[in-house]
Amino acid sequence: ALITLRQLLDYAAEHDFAVPAFNVSNMEQVHAIMQAADKVDSPVIMQASAGARKYAGEPFLRHMVLAAVEEYPHIPVVLHQDHGASPDICIRSIQSGFTSVMMDGSLREDMKTPSDFEYNSKVTKTVADIAHACGVSVEGELGCLGSLETGMMGEEDGHGADSALDHSQLLTDPDEAVEFVRLTQVDALAVAIGTSHGAYKFTQPPTGDVLAISHLKTLQQKLPDTHFVMHGSSSVPQDWLKIINTHGGDIGQTYGVPVEEIVEGIRYGVRKVNIDTDLRMASTGAIRQFLTDEQNKAEFDPRKFLKAATQAMQTICEARYQAFGSAGHA
Ligand code: G3H
Ligand code: 13P
Ligand code: NA
Ligand code: ZN
Repeated sequence: ALITLRQLLDYAAEHDFAVPAFNVSNMEQVHAIMQAADKVDSPVIMQASAGARKYAGEPFLRHMVLAAVEEYPHIPVVLHQDHGASPDICIRSIQSGFTSVMMDGSLREDMKTPSDFEYNSKVTKTVADIAHACGVSVEGELGCLGSLETGMMGEEDGHGADSALDHSQLLTDPDEAVEFVRLTQVDALAVAIGTSHGAYKFTQPPTGDVLAISHLKTLQQKLPDTHFVMHGSSSVPQDWLKIINTHGGDIGQTYGVPVEEIVEGIRYGVRKVNIDTDLRMASTGAIRQFLTDEQNKAEFDPRKFLKAATQAMQTICEARYQAFGSAGHA
C-alpha cells in the first residue's frame, strides 16, 4: 500500500532503523528496489527528482510506482518528490498523488544559490500547510549540502564549475534547526553534516569520520522528536567503479560515504537515507560488463543487459535494507 513518509518514519523511529530512499526514473530501478524489498521484507521509499520527472514524465513515474504497489501489496511504499524547487512544484506533486514532498528551500529556486533562513522557512511552511491539509508529508532542508573535505557543494561529473561554501553553511545550525522545525512543522528535516550529491564526494579513502557525527548528536539533543534525512548518502562502490573503468569507462578515482558511518548516523536520528549514485553506478557497470563480454558480442536484446543492471542494483538495495535495519519491517 502507499503510505506517507510520516507514517513510515514514526514507525522507523520507534524501532531504531532508517529507510533508504532510492531515486527512480525507470522501470529497472523500480523492479530492483521492489525485488530486494520483497526478499528481505523491507518498507520502501521511492523518490523522483525534477530530472526524473523530465526524463520519464510524471504519469509514467507515478504509474510505475503504482504498478509496484499492485504487484507487492504487502510492502508499504512511500512515493516522495525529491528536491522540490518551489511551492508550485510541490503542490503539483501533491495533486498528482505523491504521499510526500520535499520543499528544498535551502537553495533559491535556481537550485544553485544558497538561500536565507527567512526565505527557506517561508516557502517550507507554505508547502507544509497545504500538504498537511491533504494528508501528505513534507521534508525540508536546512544547511547546504557539501563536502567538509573540499568545501564544495557537489557536482555530477567531477569536472564542472562547482560552488564553494564556507564551513558554517556546511553544517546545519542547531538553534536555527529548532526554530525551523517549530515554524514549518516539517515531518522530516534534511541536515547538512558533511555529505554532498553525486559520485565526487571525497578525494581520499574515508578514514572513518567523514560525517560530522558529533554535530548530528547535538542536533538530536535539541530535536529529539525530529526525523533526520541524509542526502548524498551513496557509498560509491569501489568494485563497480573498477568494473566501469576496466570496461571502457573513465570515471575519476572518488569515494563515498561508508555504510558504517550511515549506520552510526541512524543511532542519532537519521531515518531516511537518500541514494541515487550507487544504483546508477551499479547499472552502468553491469551493462558495460555485459556488453563487452566476449560471449555477448552478438547480443542485441536490451532485456539481457537491463536484466544484468536490475540484478546489480537489487544486490545494493538488499545490502542497504539490511544495513539500515529496515529489513524485516515491511
Ligand atoms: O539529488 C539529486 C538526485 O541524485 C537526483 O539527480 O537531478 O540528476 O535526477 P537528478
Ligand atoms: P547520492 O548522489 O549520494 O546518491 O545522493 C542522492 C540524493 O541525495 C538524492 O536526493
Ligand atoms: Na528528498
Ligand atoms: Zn538530495
